[in-house]
This record gives sequence, C-alpha cells and structure tokens, in this order.
Amino acid sequence: MTKILMVCLGNICRSPLAEGILASKLPKDSFVVDSAGTSDYHKGQYPDNRSVNIARHYGIDICKQTSRPFTKQDFKDFDHIYAMDQSNLKNILALAETNSDRNKVSLILNENYPHTDKEVPDPYYDSNKGFETVFNMLEDACQVIAKRLLDQ
Ligand code: 4NP
Repeated sequence: MTKILMVCLGNICRSPLAEGILASKLPKDSFVVDSAGTSDYHKGQYPDNRSVNIARHYGIDICKQTSRPFTKQDFKDFDHIYAMDQSNLKNILALAETNSDRNKVSLILNENYPHTDKEVPDPYYDSNKGFETVFNMLEDACQVIAKRLLDQ
C-alpha cells in the first residue's frame, strides 16, 4: 500500500481537492490518499463549499472529507507528503525529526514543473474563479503524480 498525504493551511480548500483528484486516479486497493492542514483552524469541518462545488463539477465527490491538523505521526503513516505552498512546506518541515521525514516532503507543483518551486495559491479570500484555477493546477499535478505511481 502506498500512502500519500496532501497538506495546506486549513485543510478545507486546496488539500481536500488534491486528495479527491488524486484518489480519483488511483486504485483504492493499492493506494491511500488523505489530506491535512498545518493549522487546526477548521478541525472537524467539511471542505469549503467552493471546493465541494468545483470538484462536483468535474465529477469528484469531496463533501464527506473532514479537516484535521497535520501531526508528526503523519511522517510515519505516509510515504509522500505534498505541500501546496512554501509556508505549508516550512510548517511541515519544522515538525520533521529525521532525514527520512524530510525526504518525504515536497511542493506538489514540483511534480509537473520540476525544480521551479511554484505554489498553489490560497483561494480562501478569492472568488469562485480562484477555485477553478486551483482545481486545474491540482488536476495537472495529480495527473503526473498518478502516472508516476502507476508506472512504478
Ligand atoms: P486552505 O485555505 O489552506 O487551502 O484550506 C485556507 C482556509 C482557511 C484559512 C486559510 C486558508 N483561514 O485562514 O482560515
């Protein structure tokens, strides 16, 4: 079983979309995809309606996901941890204790734009259009991630 964790700040906008998109591309019997936030601001809450709606528009159901904070245990439980932006990356790495922990973490858009350190922008204070942009960025990244995982 290969386990992938998507991480943003609130775990209500970007990482629930990333979880839903990647999970839709991988067989459930060999892959676990989850998501978490570097904050506990929205712990226990369902994803933002704007994320739920854009995912539904593309045939992906994320409405039953609930927000949870990222913890040190996630380094043990997951094989790869994808951060949406530099701030998430910094917050995740601040909890890492070993090189093995650190080596599991990367910026998600480095998968489809290697070594460029591009970020998935925080859409929380944006309009619906911001959510569409984020969806498309994550769709492209997850396409590359899924292909690589399935080719391994
Ligand atoms: P996310 O978006 O990190 O993509 O889930 C945000 C959600 C909530 C907040 C910030 C970003 N907030 O400050 O409450």
